[in-house]
Amino acid sequence: MALVTTKKMFAMAYKNKYAIGAFNVNNMEITQGIVNAVAEKKAPLILQISRGARKYASMSYLRAIIDVAVAENPDIPICMHLDHGDTFEICKQCVDDGFSSVMVDASHFPFEENIRITKQVVEYAHAHNVVVEAELGQLGGIEEDVKGVGHDDVLKHLTDPNQAVEFVEKSGCDSLAVACGTSHGAYKFKAEPKLALNIIQQVADKLPGFPLVMHGSSSVLKEFKDLINKYGGKMPDAMGVPESAITEASKMAVCKVNIDTDLRMAMTAKIRQVFAEKPMEFDPRNYLGPARDAIKAMVIHKLDILGCSGKAKECL
Ligand code: G3H
Ligand code: 13P
Ligand code: ZN
Repeated sequence: MALVTTKKMFAMAYKNKYAIGAFNVNNMEITQGIVNAVAEKKAPLILQISRGARKYASMSYLRAIIDVAVAENPDIPICMHLDHGDTFEICKQCVDDGFSSVMVDASHFPFEENIRITKQVVEYAHAHNVVVEAELGQLGGIEEDVKGVGHDDVLKHLTDPNQAVEFVEKSGCDSLAVACGTSHGAYKFKAEPKLALNIIQQVADKLPGFPLVMHGSSSVLKEFKDLINKYGGKMPDAMGVPESAITEASKMAVCKVNIDTDLRMAMTAKIRQVFAEKPMEFDPRNYLGPARDAIKAMVIHKLDILGCSGKAKECL
């Protein structure tokens, strides 16, 4: 089957209290690891591509890899989504490139400007049967291409539930990324993780039935952090979102959960381990293969945390 939008996925996820995993892809091995996991667990899937991924791999390569994933898995609904499009132009480009969903992230602009840019993207995307995720409030952390507020300021930029209603009504977006204390990257908290899941509940109460999105939702799994630190890496202070909070949010109005850092850490940990244990190794298949398998196992685990294992059929 062809790429799907998130419409049916979100309707089913909302109704049946689970969330769809949205995993970032940058190359073939990452994509295969994720797709092999959802194929085994029969889970719906959102593959997301950042501006950084477009720059790194080029859209034509990523598109071709995803086309193969879609063709080989006709029983799995797969959405191709732009992650953090910061301008109308990049969102338009992705609609024209065949994405089935785009995120317009104008959350760094004042409220009215965020509405204006989001509405402009919604008008273009909807005319091409593409759905739109928007963001209100600001997430923390800094990725290669995606900039957020500083870690100490995360809790000052939470989504205002009252503004959320006006924002959704005026912009016409299909889903909303809500800032609830998460941030991008591997260093989300300095001490105890603090999330404001009450913000999600408040937005959900004001917008019943409307799908919410949680970014910055990697958990920084101990297994991979320990391997990285054991085999020459230095990430002792890395800390992520507890998986219990992800499950809790998935049972609320959160229908999409974004995960990138956990993929990066699984891949890095396994490659470091292979190099440390086999210093003579120089065949990329012998370290990228195990890295791909580590991603698959990690994603299988996440699908259970999200509650979306076995839900592919109802989302088709
Ligand atoms: O939200 C950020 C994602 O992890 C993508 O990061 O811009 O470095 O590809 P990136
Ligand atoms: P993590 O850095 O927590 O994986 O978040 C990824 C993300 O939100 C992509 O948009
Ligand atoms: Zn994000």
